[in-house]
Amino acid sequence: MQTEILPAFTGNNELNTESIDRAAALLRAGEVVGIPTETVYGLAANAFDETAVAKIFKAKGRPQDNPLIVHISAFEEIRELVSDVPEAAKKLADAFWPGPLTIILPKSSKIPDAVSAGLPSVAVRMPSHPVARAVIQKADVPLAAPSANLSGSPSPTNAKTVFDDMQGRIPLILDGGSSQVGVESTVITLCTGVPRVLRPGGVTVEQLRAVLGAVEVDDAVLHQLKAGETAASPGMKYKHYAPRADITIVRGSLAQFREYAAKQKEDAFVLCFAGEERYFPHAVPYGAAESDSEQANRLFDALRELDSLGAKTVYARCPSLDGVGLAVYNRLIRAAGFHLIDLTEE
Ligand code: TXA
Ligand code: MG
Repeated sequence: MQTEILPAFTGNNELNTESIDRAAALLRAGEVVGIPTETVYGLAANAFDETAVAKIFKAKGRPQDNPLIVHISAFEEIRELVSDVPEAAKKLADAFWPGPLTIILPKSSKIPDAVSAGLPSVAVRMPSHPVARAVIQKADVPLAAPSANLSGSPSPTNAKTVFDDMQGRIPLILDGGSSQVGVESTVITLCTGVPRVLRPGGVTVEQLRAVLGAVEVDDAVLHQLKAGETAASPGMKYKHYAPRADITIVRGSLAQFREYAAKQKEDAFVLCFAGEERYFPHAVPYGAAESDSEQANRLFDALRELDSLGAKTVYARCPSLDGVGLAVYNRLIRAAGFHLIDLTEE
Protein backbone atom coordinates (compact mmCIF):
# COMPACT_ATOMS: atom_id res chain seq x y z
CA MET A 1 0.00 0.00 0.00
CA GLN A 2 1.23 3.51 -0.88
CA THR A 3 0.89 6.04 1.93
CA GLU A 4 -0.06 9.51 0.74
CA ILE A 5 0.47 12.70 2.77
CA LEU A 6 -1.93 15.55 1.97
CA PRO A 7 -1.79 19.10 3.36
CA ALA A 8 -4.73 19.78 5.69
CA PHE A 9 -4.41 23.55 5.30
CA THR A 10 -4.16 25.76 2.20
CA GLY A 11 -1.44 28.36 1.76
CA ASN A 12 -3.79 30.90 3.42
CA ASN A 13 -4.08 28.71 6.49
CA GLU A 14 -7.65 27.73 5.69
CA LEU A 15 -8.85 24.14 5.82
CA ASN A 16 -8.01 22.31 2.62
CA THR A 17 -11.46 20.92 1.86
CA GLU A 18 -10.18 18.61 -0.89
CA SER A 19 -7.87 16.86 1.57
CA ILE A 20 -10.55 16.72 4.27
CA ASP A 21 -13.06 15.27 1.77
CA ARG A 22 -10.56 12.62 0.69
CA ALA A 23 -9.92 11.61 4.32
CA ALA A 24 -13.65 11.49 5.06
CA ALA A 25 -14.36 9.37 1.99
CA LEU A 26 -11.66 6.86 2.97
CA LEU A 27 -13.00 6.71 6.54
CA ARG A 28 -16.54 6.11 5.29
CA ALA A 29 -15.18 3.32 3.09
CA GLY A 30 -13.75 1.57 6.16
CA GLU A 31 -10.12 2.70 5.81
CA VAL A 32 -7.66 4.03 8.40
CA VAL A 33 -6.36 7.63 8.12
CA GLY A 34 -3.67 9.46 10.11
CA ILE A 35 -5.06 12.77 11.38
CA PRO A 36 -3.66 15.65 13.43
CA THR A 37 -5.10 16.48 16.85
CA GLU A 38 -3.96 19.10 19.35
CA THR A 39 -2.41 16.39 21.58
CA VAL A 40 -0.70 13.96 19.19
CA TYR A 41 -1.55 12.52 15.76
CA GLY A 42 -4.24 9.82 15.73
CA LEU A 43 -4.88 6.72 13.61
CA ALA A 44 -8.59 7.07 12.87
CA ALA A 45 -11.32 4.71 11.68
CA ASN A 46 -15.14 4.61 11.84
CA ALA A 47 -15.84 3.61 15.46
CA PHE A 48 -19.02 1.74 14.45
CA ASP A 49 -17.24 -0.38 11.83
CA GLU A 50 -15.62 -3.40 13.47
CA THR A 51 -13.64 -4.33 10.36
CA ALA A 52 -12.23 -0.80 10.04
CA VAL A 53 -11.30 -0.78 13.74
CA ALA A 54 -9.49 -4.11 13.31
CA LYS A 55 -7.28 -2.40 10.70
CA ILE A 56 -6.11 0.11 13.34
CA PHE A 57 -4.90 -2.68 15.61
CA LYS A 58 -3.13 -4.34 12.66
CA ALA A 59 -1.43 -1.10 11.47
CA LYS A 60 -0.12 -0.30 14.96
CA GLY A 61 0.65 -3.85 16.08
CA ARG A 62 -1.51 -3.00 19.09
CA PRO A 63 -2.49 -5.66 21.65
CA GLN A 64 -6.20 -6.52 21.28
CA ASP A 65 -6.87 -5.90 24.98
CA ASN A 66 -6.02 -2.17 24.80
CA PRO A 67 -9.20 -0.14 24.11
CA LEU A 68 -9.46 2.92 21.83
CA ILE A 69 -10.71 6.48 22.40
CA VAL A 70 -13.77 7.51 20.35
CA HIS A 71 -13.59 11.07 18.99
CA ILE A 72 -16.64 13.28 18.44
CA SER A 73 -17.10 16.84 17.16
CA ALA A 74 -20.23 17.93 19.09
CA PHE A 75 -21.33 17.15 22.63
CA GLU A 76 -24.66 15.60 21.58
CA GLU A 77 -22.81 12.86 19.72
CA ILE A 78 -21.82 11.34 23.06
CA ARG A 79 -25.38 10.12 23.66
CA GLU A 80 -25.08 7.44 21.02
CA LEU A 81 -21.85 6.13 22.55
CA VAL A 82 -22.65 5.83 26.27
CA SER A 83 -25.54 4.38 28.25
CA ASP A 84 -26.02 7.53 30.37
CA VAL A 85 -24.57 11.06 30.51
CA PRO A 86 -24.09 11.98 34.19
CA GLU A 87 -23.92 15.57 35.45
CA ALA A 88 -20.16 15.26 36.02
CA ALA A 89 -19.63 14.51 32.32
CA LYS A 90 -21.57 17.63 31.33
CA LYS A 91 -19.50 19.74 33.72
CA LEU A 92 -16.25 18.35 32.33
CA ALA A 93 -17.38 18.88 28.75
CA ASP A 94 -18.42 22.48 29.51
CA ALA A 95 -15.04 23.20 31.06
CA PHE A 96 -12.62 21.27 28.83
CA TRP A 97 -14.22 20.29 25.49
CA PRO A 98 -13.15 20.67 22.85
CA GLY A 99 -9.70 19.88 24.24
CA PRO A 100 -7.24 17.33 25.64
CA LEU A 101 -9.59 15.45 27.98
CA THR A 102 -10.96 11.92 27.54
CA ILE A 103 -13.94 10.82 29.63
CA ILE A 104 -14.71 7.15 30.33
CA LEU A 105 -18.35 6.16 30.82
CA PRO A 106 -20.40 2.95 30.62
CA LYS A 107 -20.74 2.18 26.90
CA SER A 108 -23.85 1.85 24.76
CA SER A 109 -24.60 -1.29 22.76
CA LYS A 110 -23.48 0.51 19.57
CA ILE A 111 -19.80 0.38 20.59
CA PRO A 112 -18.18 -2.71 19.07
CA ASP A 113 -16.17 -4.90 21.45
CA ALA A 114 -13.08 -4.23 19.35
CA VAL A 115 -13.21 -0.54 20.38
CA SER A 116 -13.71 -1.13 24.10
CA ALA A 117 -11.51 -4.26 24.12
CA GLY A 118 -14.38 -6.11 25.76
CA LEU A 119 -14.69 -3.64 28.67
CA PRO A 120 -18.19 -2.40 29.65
CA SER A 121 -16.97 1.21 29.25
CA VAL A 122 -15.94 3.53 26.43
CA ALA A 123 -13.50 6.45 26.31
CA VAL A 124 -14.80 9.60 24.55
CA ARG A 125 -12.99 12.79 23.55
CA MET A 126 -13.87 15.94 21.60
CA PRO A 127 -10.60 17.24 20.11
CA SER A 128 -10.08 20.97 19.50
CA HIS A 129 -7.86 20.67 16.42
CA PRO A 130 -9.76 22.20 13.47
CA VAL A 131 -8.65 19.42 11.11
CA ALA A 132 -9.74 16.61 13.45
CA ARG A 133 -13.09 18.33 13.94
CA ALA A 134 -13.62 18.88 10.21
CA VAL A 135 -12.77 15.25 9.42
CA ILE A 136 -15.21 13.92 12.05
CA GLN A 137 -17.95 16.23 10.77
CA LYS A 138 -17.38 15.36 7.13
CA ALA A 139 -17.13 11.61 7.77
CA ASP A 140 -20.27 11.98 9.89
CA VAL A 141 -19.32 9.09 12.18
CA PRO A 142 -17.45 9.02 15.49
CA LEU A 143 -13.80 8.11 14.96
CA ALA A 144 -11.93 5.56 17.05
CA ALA A 145 -8.31 6.71 17.17
CA PRO A 146 -5.26 5.71 19.18
CA SER A 147 -2.01 7.64 18.84
CA ALA A 148 -0.55 7.09 15.35
CA ASN A 149 2.72 5.41 16.41
CA LEU A 150 3.71 1.77 16.16
CA SER A 151 2.75 0.16 19.46
CA GLY A 152 5.46 0.84 22.06
CA SER A 153 7.01 3.86 20.30
CA PRO A 154 6.67 7.50 21.35
CA SER A 155 3.46 9.14 20.06
CA PRO A 156 3.90 11.20 16.87
CA THR A 157 3.42 14.98 17.00
CA ASN A 158 3.83 15.66 13.27
CA ALA A 159 2.91 14.05 9.92
CA LYS A 160 6.49 13.09 9.04
CA THR A 161 6.79 10.99 12.24
CA VAL A 162 3.47 9.29 11.49
CA PHE A 163 4.85 8.48 8.02
CA ASP A 164 8.03 7.01 9.54
CA ASP A 165 5.91 4.53 11.53
CA MET A 166 2.93 3.97 9.20
CA GLN A 167 4.49 4.00 5.73
CA GLY A 168 2.89 1.21 3.66
CA ARG A 169 0.35 0.44 6.41
CA ILE A 170 -2.33 3.11 5.84
CA PRO A 171 -3.50 4.91 2.68
CA LEU A 172 -3.46 8.54 3.89
CA ILE A 173 -2.01 10.96 6.44
CA LEU A 174 -3.33 14.52 6.74
CA ASP A 175 -0.54 16.99 7.51
CA GLY A 176 -1.90 19.61 9.92
CA GLY A 177 1.44 20.82 11.30
CA SER A 178 2.85 20.13 14.76
CA SER A 179 0.57 19.07 17.63
CA GLN A 180 0.45 21.85 20.17
CA VAL A 181 0.12 19.91 23.45
CA GLY A 182 2.57 17.17 22.50
CA VAL A 183 1.43 14.49 24.99
CA GLU A 184 -1.82 12.53 24.84
CA SER A 185 -5.06 13.62 26.48
CA THR A 186 -5.83 13.33 30.17
CA VAL A 187 -8.00 10.23 30.72
CA ILE A 188 -10.55 10.38 33.55
CA THR A 189 -13.05 7.66 34.41
CA LEU A 190 -16.50 8.43 35.78
CA CYS A 191 -17.20 4.70 36.17
CA THR A 192 -15.70 4.61 39.68
CA GLY A 193 -17.24 6.17 42.82
CA VAL A 194 -14.87 9.13 42.93
CA PRO A 195 -13.73 10.32 39.47
CA ARG A 196 -10.27 8.99 38.82
CA VAL A 197 -7.45 10.07 36.52
CA LEU A 198 -6.04 7.06 34.69
CA ARG A 199 -3.60 9.01 32.53
CA PRO A 200 -2.43 12.59 33.14
CA GLY A 201 -2.27 14.95 30.13
CA GLY A 202 -2.91 18.48 28.94
CA VAL A 203 -5.80 19.04 31.37
CA THR A 204 -4.26 18.99 34.85
CA VAL A 205 -5.48 17.23 38.02
CA GLU A 206 -5.69 20.69 39.64
CA GLN A 207 -8.04 21.90 36.85
CA LEU A 208 -10.21 18.76 37.17
CA ARG A 209 -10.53 19.22 40.95
CA ALA A 210 -11.58 22.84 40.43
CA VAL A 211 -14.55 21.57 38.38
CA LEU A 212 -15.47 18.26 40.06
CA GLY A 213 -14.21 18.56 43.64
CA ALA A 214 -12.65 15.25 44.70
CA VAL A 215 -10.61 13.54 41.97
CA GLU A 216 -8.33 10.57 42.59
CA VAL A 217 -5.16 9.77 40.69
CA ASP A 218 -4.75 6.10 39.83
CA ASP A 219 -1.68 4.41 41.36
CA ALA A 220 -0.48 3.34 37.91
CA VAL A 221 0.11 7.00 36.96
CA LEU A 222 3.27 7.20 39.06
CA HIS A 223 4.09 3.61 39.98
CA GLN A 224 4.81 0.40 38.18
CA LEU A 225 2.07 -2.21 38.44
CA LYS A 226 3.09 -5.20 40.50
CA ALA A 227 3.01 -8.64 38.90
CA GLY A 228 -0.59 -9.88 38.70
CA GLU A 229 -2.17 -6.42 39.27
CA THR A 230 -4.76 -5.40 36.68
CA ALA A 231 -4.56 -1.93 35.15
CA ALA A 232 -7.66 0.30 35.30
CA SER A 233 -6.44 1.61 31.96
CA PRO A 234 -4.99 -1.30 29.98
CA GLY A 235 -2.60 1.03 28.13
CA MET A 236 -0.77 1.76 31.39
CA LYS A 237 0.57 -1.76 31.69
CA TYR A 238 2.54 -1.76 28.46
CA LYS A 239 6.08 -0.57 28.00
CA HIS A 240 5.46 2.70 26.25
CA TYR A 241 7.07 5.69 24.67
CA ALA A 242 10.29 3.77 24.65
CA PRO A 243 13.24 4.73 22.52
CA ARG A 244 15.91 2.12 21.92
CA ALA A 245 18.22 3.67 24.55
CA ASP A 246 18.26 2.74 28.23
CA ILE A 247 16.97 5.79 30.08
CA THR A 248 17.49 6.65 33.74
CA ILE A 249 15.73 9.62 35.32
CA VAL A 250 18.00 11.46 37.75
CA ARG A 251 16.27 13.65 40.33
CA GLY A 252 18.34 16.48 41.81
CA SER A 253 19.66 20.00 41.24
CA LEU A 254 21.52 20.91 38.06
CA ALA A 255 24.77 20.83 40.04
CA GLN A 256 24.04 17.33 41.37
CA PHE A 257 22.99 16.16 37.91
CA ARG A 258 26.17 17.52 36.30
CA GLU A 259 28.38 15.85 38.86
CA TYR A 260 26.53 12.56 38.35
CA ALA A 261 26.61 12.77 34.53
CA ALA A 262 30.33 13.55 34.51
CA LYS A 263 31.01 10.13 36.10
CA GLN A 264 29.18 8.19 33.37
CA LYS A 265 30.50 6.60 30.17
CA GLU A 266 31.76 9.02 27.55
CA ASP A 267 29.12 8.11 24.97
CA ALA A 268 26.20 8.59 27.37
CA PHE A 269 23.56 11.18 26.43
CA VAL A 270 21.61 13.48 28.67
CA LEU A 271 18.01 14.57 28.18
CA CYS A 272 18.26 18.02 29.72
CA PHE A 273 16.26 21.21 30.08
CA ALA A 274 16.64 23.85 27.38
CA GLY A 275 19.75 25.97 27.89
CA GLU A 276 21.64 23.24 29.76
CA GLU A 277 23.08 21.60 26.61
CA ARG A 278 26.39 23.45 27.01
CA TYR A 279 27.24 21.48 30.16
CA PHE A 280 27.21 18.08 28.46
CA PRO A 281 29.08 16.53 25.51
CA HIS A 282 25.93 14.74 24.19
CA ALA A 283 22.68 16.47 25.09
CA VAL A 284 19.12 16.65 23.77
CA PRO A 285 16.92 19.30 25.42
CA TYR A 286 13.21 18.80 26.09
CA GLY A 287 11.91 22.24 27.04
CA ALA A 288 12.72 24.85 29.66
CA ALA A 289 12.99 23.75 33.32
CA GLU A 290 10.24 26.16 34.35
CA SER A 291 7.81 25.37 31.47
CA ASP A 292 5.83 22.16 31.85
CA SER A 293 3.89 22.85 28.64
CA GLU A 294 7.11 23.28 26.67
CA GLN A 295 8.44 20.00 28.12
CA ALA A 296 5.21 18.23 27.09
CA ASN A 297 5.44 19.76 23.63
CA ARG A 298 9.06 18.61 23.16
CA LEU A 299 9.29 15.27 25.00
CA PHE A 300 8.30 12.74 22.32
CA ASP A 301 10.33 14.46 19.61
CA ALA A 302 13.31 14.51 21.95
CA LEU A 303 12.93 10.74 22.59
CA ARG A 304 12.87 10.06 18.85
CA GLU A 305 15.86 12.35 18.35
CA LEU A 306 17.85 10.30 20.88
CA ASP A 307 17.16 7.25 18.71
CA SER A 308 18.24 8.97 15.53
CA LEU A 309 21.48 10.08 17.24
CA GLY A 310 22.15 6.46 18.19
CA ALA A 311 22.01 7.07 21.95
CA LYS A 312 22.44 3.86 23.95
CA THR A 313 22.47 5.22 27.49
CA VAL A 314 20.54 8.32 28.52
CA TYR A 315 20.34 10.23 31.82
CA ALA A 316 17.27 12.47 32.02
CA ARG A 317 16.58 15.54 34.12
CA CYS A 318 13.51 14.93 36.29
CA PRO A 319 10.50 17.19 35.58
CA SER A 320 8.37 18.68 38.35
CA LEU A 321 5.19 16.70 39.10
CA ASP A 322 2.89 19.76 39.17
CA GLY A 323 0.45 20.76 36.44
CA VAL A 324 1.23 19.27 33.03
CA GLY A 325 4.54 18.14 34.57
CA LEU A 326 2.67 15.10 35.93
CA ALA A 327 1.97 14.01 32.33
CA VAL A 328 5.58 14.64 31.33
CA TYR A 329 6.84 12.58 34.29
CA ASN A 330 4.29 9.81 33.62
CA ARG A 331 5.55 9.39 30.02
CA LEU A 332 9.23 9.75 30.91
CA ILE A 333 9.14 7.23 33.77
CA ARG A 334 7.61 4.69 31.36
CA ALA A 335 10.21 5.46 28.71
CA ALA A 336 12.75 4.82 31.48
CA GLY A 337 11.15 1.52 32.50
CA PHE A 338 10.60 3.11 35.97
CA HIS A 339 14.33 3.54 36.50
CA LEU A 340 14.87 6.59 38.76
CA ILE A 341 17.86 7.71 40.80
CA ASP A 342 17.12 10.26 43.53
CA LEU A 343 20.18 12.37 44.41
CA THR A 344 18.13 14.56 46.75
CA GLU A 345 17.92 11.65 49.21
CA GLU A 346 21.68 11.46 49.71
O1 TXA B 1 -4.68 12.50 23.01
C1 TXA B 1 -5.10 11.36 22.87
O2 TXA B 1 -5.81 10.80 23.70
C2 TXA B 1 -4.71 10.64 21.56
C3 TXA B 1 -5.34 11.40 20.39
C4 TXA B 1 -5.15 10.68 19.07
O3 TXA B 1 -6.71 11.64 20.66
N1 TXA B 1 -5.14 9.27 21.60
C5 TXA B 1 -4.54 8.36 22.40
O4 TXA B 1 -5.03 7.09 22.28
O5 TXA B 1 -3.63 8.63 23.13
P1 TXA B 1 -4.26 5.79 22.82
O6 TXA B 1 -5.03 4.65 22.30
O7 TXA B 1 -2.84 5.86 22.45
O8 TXA B 1 -4.45 5.85 24.36
C6 TXA B 1 -5.73 5.60 24.93
C7 TXA B 1 -5.59 5.24 26.38
C8 TXA B 1 -4.97 3.88 26.58
O9 TXA B 1 -4.12 3.92 27.70
C9 TXA B 1 -6.19 2.99 26.84
O10 TXA B 1 -5.88 1.86 27.61
C10 TXA B 1 -7.11 3.95 27.57
O11 TXA B 1 -6.89 5.21 26.97
N2 TXA B 1 -8.53 3.59 27.44
C11 TXA B 1 -9.30 3.64 26.32
N3 TXA B 1 -10.54 3.19 26.56
C12 TXA B 1 -10.56 2.86 27.88
C13 TXA B 1 -11.57 2.32 28.75
N4 TXA B 1 -12.80 2.03 28.32
N5 TXA B 1 -11.23 2.11 30.06
C14 TXA B 1 -9.98 2.39 30.51
N6 TXA B 1 -9.00 2.89 29.72
C15 TXA B 1 -9.28 3.12 28.43
MG1 MG C 1 -0.83 5.57 22.42
